[in-house]
Amino acid sequence: MTTLRHWIACLSGTILLQHAYGAAGAPPGRITMPQARFATGDDPRRAQPDFDDSSWATIDTKRNYEKQGFEGYDGYSWYRIHVTIPSSLKASSDWPQRLRVYLSGIDDADETWLNGVPIGKTGRMPDAPGGFDGRWQAVRDYHADLSKVPLRWDRDNVIAIRVYDGVGGGGFHRDVPSISIPNRADGLRFGPERAQFDFRRDGKVAVSLNAANDFPTRQRGRMVMELFDQRSGKTLQRQAQAFTLAAGQSRTLNWVLPTGPGVEARLRYVDAQSGHSIASRLPLPYLLTPPDSAVPAIHGASVLGARPGTPLAHRIPATGKAPLRYSAAKLPAGLTLDAATGVIAGTVPAAGSYPIELRVENTAGAASQVWTLEAGDKLALTPPMGWNSWNAFGVNVSDAQVRASARILVESGLAAKGWSSVNIDDGWQAAARASDGELPGNERFPNMPALGRYLHGLGLRFGIYSSPGPATCGKYLGAYEHEAQDAATYASWGVDFLKYDLCSYSDMIAKTPTRAAHMLPYQKMGEALKAQPRSIVYSLCQYGEQQVWEWGADVGGQAWRMTGDILDTWDSVLETGFSAAPYTQHVAPGRWNDPDMLVVGHVGWGDPKPSRLTPDEQYSHISLWSMLAAPLLLGNDLTKLDAFTMNLLGNTEVLAINQDILGRAARRVQDGDDWQIWVKPLADGRKAIGVFNMGDKFRRMRIDPALYAKGQSGLPYQARDAWRQQALASTGGAIDVELPAHGVMLLTVR
Ligand code: GAL
Repeated sequence: MTTLRHWIACLSGTILLQHAYGAAGAPPGRITMPQARFATGDDPRRAQPDFDDSSWATIDTKRNYEKQGFEGYDGYSWYRIHVTIPSSLKASSDWPQRLRVYLSGIDDADETWLNGVPIGKTGRMPDAPGGFDGRWQAVRDYHADLSKVPLRWDRDNVIAIRVYDGVGGGGFHRDVPSISIPNRADGLRFGPERAQFDFRRDGKVAVSLNAANDFPTRQRGRMVMELFDQRSGKTLQRQAQAFTLAAGQSRTLNWVLPTGPGVEARLRYVDAQSGHSIASRLPLPYLLTPPDSAVPAIHGASVLGARPGTPLAHRIPATGKAPLRYSAAKLPAGLTLDAATGVIAGTVPAAGSYPIELRVENTAGAASQVWTLEAGDKLALTPPMGWNSWNAFGVNVSDAQVRASARILVESGLAAKGWSSVNIDDGWQAAARASDGELPGNERFPNMPALGRYLHGLGLRFGIYSSPGPATCGKYLGAYEHEAQDAATYASWGVDFLKYDLCSYSDMIAKTPTRAAHMLPYQKMGEALKAQPRSIVYSLCQYGEQQVWEWGADVGGQAWRMTGDILDTWDSVLETGFSAAPYTQHVAPGRWNDPDMLVVGHVGWGDPKPSRLTPDEQYSHISLWSMLAAPLLLGNDLTKLDAFTMNLLGNTEVLAINQDILGRAARRVQDGDDWQIWVKPLADGRKAIGVFNMGDKFRRMRIDPALYAKGQSGLPYQARDAWRQQALASTGGAIDVELPAHGVMLLTVR
């Protein structure tokens, strides 16, 4: 018996299923295709197998073509992969009519042919109806029906891939493409993205999993569910059931299971006839944040920076049993507070520091807090918090989606915890400027000023996106040579936040990529924003070029991206978040390192699906971003908020670490073998301590919180578990910390 385990991306292109081939029959085999012929330009004849590509370049399929002699090329190009497919492949399969063509990631859109027959496409070409839609994040996993494709067994076959790259690196970029003949069981999809979880009062989770049969053949076999506990290393339960599913159908499986850190359902379907099997892991979500108290509490930062004389709309984040009544003492003239909604609106007074005494009451009690309005030049005194359209909707975002998201922030209670910005990312711009040069919104954004008023009416902030180049990354119009005019337009719409993304401007500095050349366009927009009669937070997005953390504030920025784009994978969290460790000393109020937006909840750049991060990875993601004092911008489709995500995003003790007014980022004080400890000083003298398990096994560690909080072991301390919002029993000495795979323990210690 041979067993071959590998990771492949499943059909949906957004989730990884672990496939295990075992039992009877040989492994299906996989042919990798590390190289391809490549040429820029476009010609439909290139799809044909006999097209002469002998003069084309030969390049690797693992790295984008821009790193292989085609620097800076955006537009159409073609790959042609010649591959000999041995007939022995089909002999090993119980389903020889199918060929799986796995093309990993392609930047940005592709159309693919096998021997001249179309077998798949992802994204949309600029010349297709609807126009360009880049899908560089999606995994391409195409299945060809061999009854329709003339395959030449044991001879040369050609996979022809037409690519369009909008901007930045182009073409293949993820891992090596491959082909294989799948087994019948591979047609079954039952990955975690198809699961729904309901939390029950008894602490158990009701799992309903929709399994779909994508192949035109009946599935008949057994579904085995094993409940595995990482902590004990034991299987807690095993259930097996007969499982049949007609071609093209789906059905729902249900279990009620105990859950907790590191508990997962391991599923395995075994085909009755061949014994081939396919497996999937379902890490079970579990809730850590306790429910909100009925007694009022005021959350969010206790300080806000705004420029004198500029308009202000601010919602006091507060929880407690509705209805809440808000009041304020020492509210400066020019500002009013709506007692029912808690929205403070009006004009920021003359420069100075205004401590305002906020009070919130209901039938259960009252809370008060001094909230200081710092009228001056400094903005974003704590990290921006809110929602951005990109990770959910990509370039197809609309006014209706933005309004719905704003409403949900308020109605779900997220705004009551401080999630208060609503930022439109790329895709709002009209196709052309008006005759006076103004750039209006496109048909999906017919009335920007009205949208601004709507958001401000809810006490939320309004964010927008542009690029210093002629085009944005999504190929919309940028601000190039219209910087001052665009800044004035944004101000007239009521914009409070601008994300300014390098995109096509990188072509202009390609030849002299000096720090000065990178600063120039950001300086220009920084000045244009400062000239506006609004307080507009300025967020730089140029992927960390030229150590932006050293000069971002000098060009007027309050936040700057450190890396390329985040994806909803642990590797990506490592690359964007954990890699920020060497640069955390640059962080201060109004100077935030930005490891990119959050990838919890349903994300997917135009096709939102549950995040591929496990529940523990999501706890780590939110913990790390809080520790880094990073901007917290949700990237999820808020219409699909589930109980786990709400609970994850609603922990005010964790969010308070992020919003702490000292404004320092955590330092990584220990970088062990598969574990890390980060420490963040807080304004009241406490320290936040994050213990992260970087490994994929459950880990038990002994740490003395006093060592990290006070620099010396053995001293007495008081510690709280921030996620569980509980004091630790121990007030001195070492404690045991239990960390599921990629999980975290977050403490505050005094
Ligand atoms: C990328 C940027 C993303 C998103 C996108 C829009 O360059 O990093 O966050 O803004 O462009 O096209």
